[in-house]
Amino acid sequence: MIVEHSRGQYEIQFIPLAELPEALPADAAIITDENVFNLHRHWIKERPALVLPAGEETKDLKSFGHCLEWLAHRAYSRSSAIVALGGGVIGDLAGFVAASYMRGVPYIQVPTTLLAQVDSSVGGKVGVDLPQGKNLAGAFHPPQRVVICIDSLKTLDHRQFVNGMAEVWKYGFIADEELVGELAVMELDASHPQLEAIVRRCVRHKRDIVQADEYETNGIRATLNFGHTVGHAIEQATNYREYLHGEAISIGMVVEALLGERVGLTVPGTHRVVREHLERQGLPVRSEILGNARHLIEVMKRDKKASRGGLAFSLLTKVGECKLVSGIPEAEVESTLGAL
Ligand SMILES: NC(=O)c1ccc[n+]([C@@H]2O[C@H](COP(=O)([O-])OP(=O)(O)OC[C@H]3O[C@@H](n4cnc5c(N)ncnc54)[C@H](O)[C@@H]3O)[C@@H](O)[C@H]2O)c1
Ligand SMILES: [Zn+2]
Repeated sequence: MIVEHSRGQYEIQFIPLAELPEALPADAAIITDENVFNLHRHWIKERPALVLPAGEETKDLKSFGHCLEWLAHRAYSRSSAIVALGGGVIGDLAGFVAASYMRGVPYIQVPTTLLAQVDSSVGGKVGVDLPQGKNLAGAFHPPQRVVICIDSLKTLDHRQFVNGMAEVWKYGFIADEELVGELAVMELDASHPQLEAIVRRCVRHKRDIVQADEYETNGIRATLNFGHTVGHAIEQATNYREYLHGEAISIGMVVEALLGERVGLTVPGTHRVVREHLERQGLPVRSEILGNARHLIEVMKRDKKASRGGLAFSLLTKVGECKLVSGIPEAEVESTLGAL
């Protein structure tokens, strides 16, 4: 699959894990985390690799500086690639390192979580968190290649797999009603024979969306944020401790589906359908934090999409269709949160 962007194009390859070592340049600098390293140490150990602690805390300026200095110390040049081997944390961090080292070097995304395969590895958004907020420093730096090994997901723990499924459902809700129907009868897990087809389908949706709006300027890419305005506020209000990203956006999707119904944009009953699917998937669909509506709204107002006229949301028109809507009054959001 090819992704076109303003500076060229890149390929998304699907290969078995056993073929990964040969698919990567032997001299590439591998950036990974300790969990992923332990799973791949048999072939990585002969290659240049920087192994970082696992977890969101690693996506910070300190690791960013550490990676840059590691590359400089080893005299890496523009001609050698960086490999981001891991989940979205490593993909975002190593991608931002690649965007900055010598004003930009090529990098290859090798996403090893479901979330990274269907979402973060495609589209060129890279960055790190600052103490003041998530993803506050970053760049658009498309990878040279994305290499997806579906069988690498077999070692993911159940919670991380289900976390990625939240984004899979999201593609269905915003753009693919048929996918919703298929997921509902599938009971997808890491060894399901249809998993690769589903990941490919999600990647194709992401590809089409980022090709239509590479720099998030015309409202198309922002539709990917269904569930995210509320989801991000939940993550922040709970200090990123209680919920994984997919879990928070699962709750966010239920809230935003109801919000769409209440403003008359979404077909009535849609939020119930969304909630039932996510609940059956084992994702959270409600939270005590929703009771703290005022606080959540204050957090949402700091959202990049918010304007003075009100809050902005990617709202469903029905299952499989959505649109970006700005100027939603705070009072409407507050009463929706109160209704759940
Ligand atoms: N750039 C984008 O467009 C974009 C989009 C969505 C999310 N993100 C970012 O992605 C990050 C979250 O990514 P994530 O959910 O992949 O988290 P993550 O990278 O922290 O990975 C989750 C956990 O799984 C482990 N792991 C990774 N691959 C494994 C495997 N194959 N087997 C066993 N364990 C494995 C990791 O070590 C980690 O402990 C966030 O920082 C978020 O901001 C970026
Ligand atoms: Zn997301």
